[in-house]
Amino acid sequence: MKAKILGQKREYYKVIDSTNLKAKEKAEKGAVHGSLFVADKQTKGRGRRGRTWDSPPNSNLYFSLLLRPLFNPEKASMLTILMAVSVEKAFEELGVEKIQIKWPNDLILNGKKICGILTEMSTKIDSIEYVVIGVGINLGNYQFPEELQKMATTVYQETGKLLDRELLLEKILFHFETVYEEFSKVQNLCHIKKDYEAHLVNRNKEVRILDPKEEFCAIAKGITETGELVVINQNQEEKLIYAGEVSVRGVYGYV
Ligand code: BTN
Repeated sequence: MKAKILGQKREYYKVIDSTNLKAKEKAEKGAVHGSLFVADKQTKGRGRRGRTWDSPPNSNLYFSLLLRPLFNPEKASMLTILMAVSVEKAFEELGVEKIQIKWPNDLILNGKKICGILTEMSTKIDSIEYVVIGVGINLGNYQFPEELQKMATTVYQETGKLLDRELLLEKILFHFETVYEEFSKVQNLCHIKKDYEAHLVNRNKEVRILDPKEEFCAIAKGITETGELVVINQNQEEKLIYAGEVSVRGVYGYV
């Protein structure tokens, strides 16, 4: 492991319900900052918004990283953006260069999702007790259930390359540790904003903002230093889109 702190304590499971659940359980029992939980297969892989994460064995990467940050809870959503950038950088070093990011934190290859990130947090009044960042990366050669085939793919299916999972994980942790160290000092995304925007799949393209209050079309321009998506609506007004309940879709489909 090249990272100095992250992953120094780690647990590996052949089969587990969910690495996020395990990380939270261990966090409650006092597991230290930087603890890593990795599995080959998950039986209850969890996605965002209560969805499941398809987690077959043998070739994909499923891991959760436990952090105990000292900053305020409202900053935590930026950690997911740091992780997205770190995964992209790791892929680039392994020769997979066309990875894009769909705001806030899906990684995309040839228009389909290859990686999802689920960040969960426990707080005490106005401080963070712990944060768990769970990452699932589709690497191998297998068929998704039919309902997912239009929007999900694997690195192998798109590039013919079967990447070494350990090496990929080592690189992700190294990059995350580097950007996290800087983030802990400045507590915003100024140091990775350009990198993130360079990979933003919808940049300068029309997107549909699926806000439960109002759905509208706009042009995505980039992100703020605190991670909101900046869009220009049809009246040429700049709007900030906050992650959470809002989804962003390309006008013709998922991206
Ligand atoms: C998403 O919906 O895009 C987020 C998916 C996150 C999946 C990963 S796999 C490892 C970790 N454990 C889980 O149960 N979920 C995350």
